[in-house]
Amino acid sequence: MEIFLDTAKVEQIKQWLGYGVLDGVTTNPSILFKDGGYDIQERTREIAELIYPRPLSVEVSTNEPKEMLEQGRAFAKWGDNIVVKIPVINEDGVPCLDVVNTLTNENIKVNMTAVMSLGQFILGAKAGATYGSIFAGRVADEGNDSSELIERSARWLKTWGYETKIIVGSIRTTKNIQDAAVAGAHVLTIPPDLLGKWVDHQYSRSTVKQFNIDAKKAFEQLRESQGVTASP
Ligand code: E4P
Repeated sequence: MEIFLDTAKVEQIKQWLGYGVLDGVTTNPSILFKDGGYDIQERTREIAELIYPRPLSVEVSTNEPKEMLEQGRAFAKWGDNIVVKIPVINEDGVPCLDVVNTLTNENIKVNMTAVMSLGQFILGAKAGATYGSIFAGRVADEGNDSSELIERSARWLKTWGYETKIIVGSIRTTKNIQDAAVAGAHVLTIPPDLLGKWVDHQYSRSTVKQFNIDAKKAFEQLRESQGVTASP
């Protein structure tokens, strides 16, 4: 299972790269706006270079399938590790599967995004998407079971031998992270703050604190037994 960061914050990406657990990064227009990446090309190139050869997903920002195709081709030139995010349908419900398929046939990797149902996921896989992004939080917003959707998508892929990877995004709690991991997600894309919460634990902190206190005490005992009273 891979872990991506769902962010456009360069400092956070550097931090998690340094921990050695980062497999990629995803953004969308809202994330870039929130994280101050107003110049999309500049921020995208910076992140792509920083995480290379790990993948960076960048989303098209138009409602017109033809323009999506043009944007996708342009984005792909910004770096070898760019993955183009194409919504499964546009805001009018027009399927964007032809855009997914055309870019894939041009050897451009596609992350088909805004997936809320099994049907959408299956059609994206058939159109050739490298990734299909299931929006767990938004699925749950509508009262549906995101774990069930992830499990069924994973089972369908296995049954029919499609290689599309399930990215689970729209993650809002650490419980969401764990549920998605267990349900069969290939990739979890997680906001940096939540990834920080996932690694943190009060009991780990107090355990480490106790170990440090006892280590200090043992060292003082050793010094005392050697006739030295000054602390290290
Ligand atoms: C990831 O690829 C998605 O764009 C992102 O996780 C969406 O999250 P949201 O539902 O919190 O906006």
